Amino acid sequence: MPQTPVSSDSAQDSQDTITREINQLHADYAERRAAGAPAEDEVALDFAPYRSSILRHPTKDPRHVDPELIELTSPAFGHTDVGPIESDLTISERGEALGERMILEGRLLDADGRPVSGQLIEVWQANAAGRYIHKRDQHPAPLDPNFTGTGRCITDSEGRYRFITIKPGPYPWKNHMNAWRPAHIHFSVFGNAFTQRLVTQMYFPGDPLFPLDPIYNSIVDQDARDRLVAEYDHELSSPEWALGYRWNIVLNGSKSTWFEAEGDEA
Ligand SMILES: [Fe+2]
Repeated sequence: MPQTPVSSDSAQDSQDTITREINQLHADYAERRAAGAPAEDEVALDFAPYRSSILRHPTKDPRHVDPELIELTSPAFGHTDVGPIESDLTISERGEALGERMILEGRLLDADGRPVSGQLIEVWQANAAGRYIHKRDQHPAPLDPNFTGTGRCITDSEGRYRFITIKPGPYPWKNHMNAWRPAHIHFSVFGNAFTQRLVTQMYFPGDPLFPLDPIYNSIVDQDARDRLVAEYDHELSSPEWALGYRWNIVLNGSKSTWFEAEGDEA
């Protein structure tokens, strides 16, 4: 894939420059597809419009480790360690989080559509104003003392997960001038072992920032991008209380959810 050199201060690049690069890379992909190349829904490790991906993407093959050994030295979790209250991000000891309350449900599935039960799913996100509680987040938007933006749950026998949360706001980042991330929720999915952890992001339907965001667009395949967007589900919405969104996660196969390379975290 042709790449554009990273400038010394890429945060000065304009949105037009970034959008032009995204469009060119997508056009290159469309050309490859038209010539008979297979769909590319793998992680793009070095997508030039996503500036820092060029500097920090892995350059060597993954190192294979002995999963047994890792499990002996890593933290462990059990079903009893995850309480039902941990899937509700809107409540705290002091009061309720501010923002647009939402119910987020979905299923964790394998390539054949079979439910994957008993799996730990963790989420983290910005608050309604687009601010993370994280120290590195200097976005001048208010913090919400009643919202930490983290939650977790274990999938049930049908592979279902359910979170109650607040719709996150978009937030600025320093990829280029006037760069904004579309609203998203980060997901971490564990298999049966910590060495099987996968991380991805879920987006919201109809976000006007989609065409402008180099992270979302680093997935060059439109179908693969679409699989990261939740659906609004009116049946799931709860009267006088919350809007419902549904998003399934597929672990592998041709309909697999796109998962991030290690280190991507914006
Ligand atoms: Fe984020």
